[in-house]
Amino acid sequence: MEFEKVVKKRAMIRRYQKKAVEDEKIQRILNLAWKAPSAGFTQPVEFILVKDEKAKRALFEAALYQEQLLEAPIIIAVVSNTSRSTPRYGKRGREFYSVIDGAFASLIILFTCVKEGLGASFVGAFEDEKVSKVLKLPNYVRPIGLIAIGYPAEAAPKYKRISLEKLIHKNTW
Ligand SMILES: Cc1cc2nc3c(=O)[nH]c(=O)nc-3n(C[C@H](O)[C@H](O)[C@H](O)COP(=O)(O)O)c2cc1C
Repeated sequence: MEFEKVVKKRAMIRRYQKKAVEDEKIQRILNLAWKAPSAGFTQPVEFILVKDEKAKRALFEAALYQEQLLEAPIIIAVVSNTSRSTPRYGKRGREFYSVIDGAFASLIILFTCVKEGLGASFVGAFEDEKVSKVLKLPNYVRPIGLIAIGYPAEAAPKYKRISLEKLIHKNTW
């Protein structure tokens, strides 16, 4: 699928069919997410693949009971291992670059899901401590996003965006 089409087609899909997602598709998604940019090439981003029903329910409870986390056959938890970003960049590495690195990898996951015919929803509204506990994250690994993935069972919701002209500034604000 042509890149422009992938970008235009991407939307958060929050309902999924029962059908499992093939491991090869998940591997292809991760192969591309792995190529995401990384501040100073510190590569803090890691991925946790969650298929276990008990773990999915615990993530659902840690993320404001968002149903897509229960319904998705697989969740990719994108996490940042700040033990790689902090030594070089200190607070900025831990609090800022680690998040941006994770966000870039997450967007590649969302785009690749479109290409693979999958629906995905990025969930960022969760309680960090609860998610960390469920995923058994060490204290230097921070959760960035929970990406629910499955074969879509709904059409993409349509949103009206702020017009682009209103968002473009020339030279200064
Ligand atoms: C940082 C961030 C956090 C988000 N957290 C959630 C979330 O917790 N639950 C959810 O359903 N969608 C979440 N979203 C998705 C947005 O609601 C969605 O991108 C927005 O409404 C635009 O829709 P679209 O992505 O389908 O174009 C999040 C998006 C971003 C960028």
